Amino acid sequence: MKTRYFRADSDDESFYGECAKIIRGGGLVAFPTETVYGLGVNAFDKNAVPKVFKAKGRPSDNPLIVHVAFPEDAENIAYTNDTYYKIAERFMPGPITVILPKKDVIPFEVTGGLDSVGVRCPSHFAAHKLIMASGVPIAAPSANLSGAPSPTKAEHVVKDMDTRIDAAILSDECDFGLESTVISLNGNGAVILRPGAVTREDLLEILERVEVSPAVTDPSAAGDRPASPGMKYKHYSPNAEFVLVDADSKTFASFVENQNEKSAVICGKSEKELFSSAMTFVYGETDDYKALSFALFAFFRSADSAQAEKIYARLPDKSGYGLALYNRMIRAAANKIIKP
Ligand code: TXA
Ligand code: MG
Repeated sequence: MKTRYFRADSDDESFYGECAKIIRGGGLVAFPTETVYGLGVNAFDKNAVPKVFKAKGRPSDNPLIVHVAFPEDAENIAYTNDTYYKIAERFMPGPITVILPKKDVIPFEVTGGLDSVGVRCPSHFAAHKLIMASGVPIAAPSANLSGAPSPTKAEHVVKDMDTRIDAAILSDECDFGLESTVISLNGNGAVILRPGAVTREDLLEILERVEVSPAVTDPSAAGDRPASPGMKYKHYSPNAEFVLVDADSKTFASFVENQNEKSAVICGKSEKELFSSAMTFVYGETDDYKALSFALFAFFRSADSAQAEKIYARLPDKSGYGLALYNRMIRAAANKIIKP
């Protein structure tokens, strides 16, 4: 099929109506969010939802997040509670997804057979306008081919999804660059199933208890029926082998410089001068995890385009934004950490 492209920043906004028609007609529309680009489908349409899995080449037991225009629209699709609204008041619209018991209107095609549904209210203006125009909640995974890094730039969406979907709304590079924080609720507390830009520390400001699912830091802990099924798949990976190194900057640099492959290295400004032969991808100040989160998936794709054979990065620590990075990185590295 021929994919139609629209620019989110164009003056003529009539394209939202056209995209809404596609969504209501059971088609697929990619759109920007503040985290990564999503691949949207009408969340009420059980016949259309399988098209998303087909376009991505994704196993269909992996549940989709449902995107709503306002936090209270969760009422149409799920059973909410006080903790949900406490979280919504502080963090929505924004990069967080809350798992709630689903209502019958959400087909099992969306939830991969689960009785729960992930509810997310994105803050990106184009996502909001698309949901409003469509008049239905939009189920959307990240708009990448299954196994590839999530798309954070318009060009990534075009590369992965061209001819596979009906339309795409293209915008700037996504603000955060890693997918939303996914949590399940447990009384006044929460369990982080996937860490993201809303950190454990942020959640602890309003909740009594915030646990981190063991699968977040140890993917092998994700069994056959993990709390968040998405955790069990190889994910976020570049084609090149991604090598995660637990070392200080100098030890890291001498380790990388001693390898023979065509290597790419993800490093901070203060580390760049330590490398002479490796290709460097510099994200910002060395301790700036926010900058690294923003750039990580785009670096994976750039290193692949440059035909790097291996990509090296230093292991982040697990506090604040670091937890999301740690989670994406150990999975991209197939759970292997090298200590030189
Ligand atoms: O930032 C994001 O969340 C992006 C944008 C497009 O909104 N979406 C995204 O979707 O990352 P996806 O499908 O790539 O990842 C969804 C994650 C998976 O890890 C999945 O297992 C989990 O959310 N998930 C969804 N529904 C769930 C449910 N009912 N129970 C447990 N985990 C769920
Ligand atoms: Mg994804």
